[in-house]
Amino acid sequence: MDFTQDPRFRGIERFEKRVWLSSPTMHGEEQKWVDEAIRTNWVSTVGANINELERQIADYVGCRHAVALSAGTAALHLAVKLAGENLYGQARPDHGTLEGRKVFCSDCTFDASVNPVAYEDGEAVFIDTEYDTWNMDPAALEQAFRLYPEVRLVVLAHLYGTPGRMEELKEICEKHGALIIEDAAESLGAQYLLHGKWVETGTLGDYNAISFNGNKIITGSSGGMFLTDSREDADKVRKWSTQSREAAPWYQHEEIGYNYRMSNIIAGVVRGQIPYLQEHIDQKRAIWERYEKGLSDLPVRMNPWDREKSRPNFWLSCMTIDPEALAPCERGEQTELWQTEPGKSSPGEILAALAAFNAEGRPIWKPMHLQPIYRSNPFVTADGNGRGRTNAYIAGSGIDVGADIFRRGLCLPSDNKMTPEQQDRVIEIIHRCFD
Ligand SMILES: Cc1ncc(COP(=O)(O)O)c(C=O)c1O
Repeated sequence: MDFTQDPRFRGIERFEKRVWLSSPTMHGEEQKWVDEAIRTNWVSTVGANINELERQIADYVGCRHAVALSAGTAALHLAVKLAGENLYGQARPDHGTLEGRKVFCSDCTFDASVNPVAYEDGEAVFIDTEYDTWNMDPAALEQAFRLYPEVRLVVLAHLYGTPGRMEELKEICEKHGALIIEDAAESLGAQYLLHGKWVETGTLGDYNAISFNGNKIITGSSGGMFLTDSREDADKVRKWSTQSREAAPWYQHEEIGYNYRMSNIIAGVVRGQIPYLQEHIDQKRAIWERYEKGLSDLPVRMNPWDREKSRPNFWLSCMTIDPEALAPCERGEQTELWQTEPGKSSPGEILAALAAFNAEGRPIWKPMHLQPIYRSNPFVTADGNGRGRTNAYIAGSGIDVGADIFRRGLCLPSDNKMTPEQQDRVIEIIHRCFD
């Protein structure tokens, strides 16, 4: 279908330059720190940029130690390994620390949140999502502890930069003696009101990870960090990330190691971005608010957040189409079909229309329990076991929350360099989809 020729879109011009979902925004200071690293020959995984970045992020987030790593995924892997070792003891070098263990995991998230559980030979049990923040549902987590009382570890993410219901989630974990790995990859700079005190995401778990991937709120092109108050944990992660070398004159290894340390060049880029974190958050918030206003006359809702207890970083603006305004649409494993209907639309149609006019959106992250790789893993909803709920003889077996948000939702162009005029055009394209 050629949207640019469709009479519904008459008068709308194609964007000359692509409007991105979320692209890097460089300010110039990054160059200074990269140049300095090269000029002083600290082109390695040690150097002033790494030290300074670790200091500044720990200071910003409000934790004692930050360990700079090659990626958020690396931070999550070492967090999972550390938690596994602390809970269950050291594993043989050819075994993971979570072998034979279940771990409760956010379901609506990027797969990098949960893959480290599998790296360590654990089994992820996916916990359904709640509609108020699109994050882990405390009621479903309670059900999961009822079904699997032996579980001692929970991995939870703050989707699209919106903090989850951390007070309740933390209370449940404490009650059941479980540790939390907080995946704050998407939510750097977001805050949560915990027991009356505003705290940054990235300090809410027992082990915490952030990401500087190219699409994140600030970036180094890649990179991530492990955040903790524990000196011992920071030292262990730093050791593991540099191949677990011992203090011998030769290469001596007591433990399995990884090449996960951040480069001093990448650290220079992130260091140059830190002064602009708040500016990026303010821009992203303005984008979210402009969408909320501009789409308010349509049968759609923006991604929600708890206005009393959270201050998101608004990394991505998203929307869901109200059920009665969802046009027929079906997704297979790799392709989708959708139909147009007056007054209705679908994520597939809106994303295709945006793409035709040279703007980038994206489907909502497909829930983990629906992913082919994890389809046989347990899944728990607020009603209990989320698997095997359908019945040929009983109608209305119900769709889970994550699948529903995935079916009706999409991520909107959220680039902080998008101008108000460009965003108005994006909003107009979405309106025309409902004509
Ligand atoms: C929720 C979430 N967790 C983890 C990651 C992994 O971070 P990285 O790409 O830095 O490895 C990402 C993004 O990439 C993410 O969105």
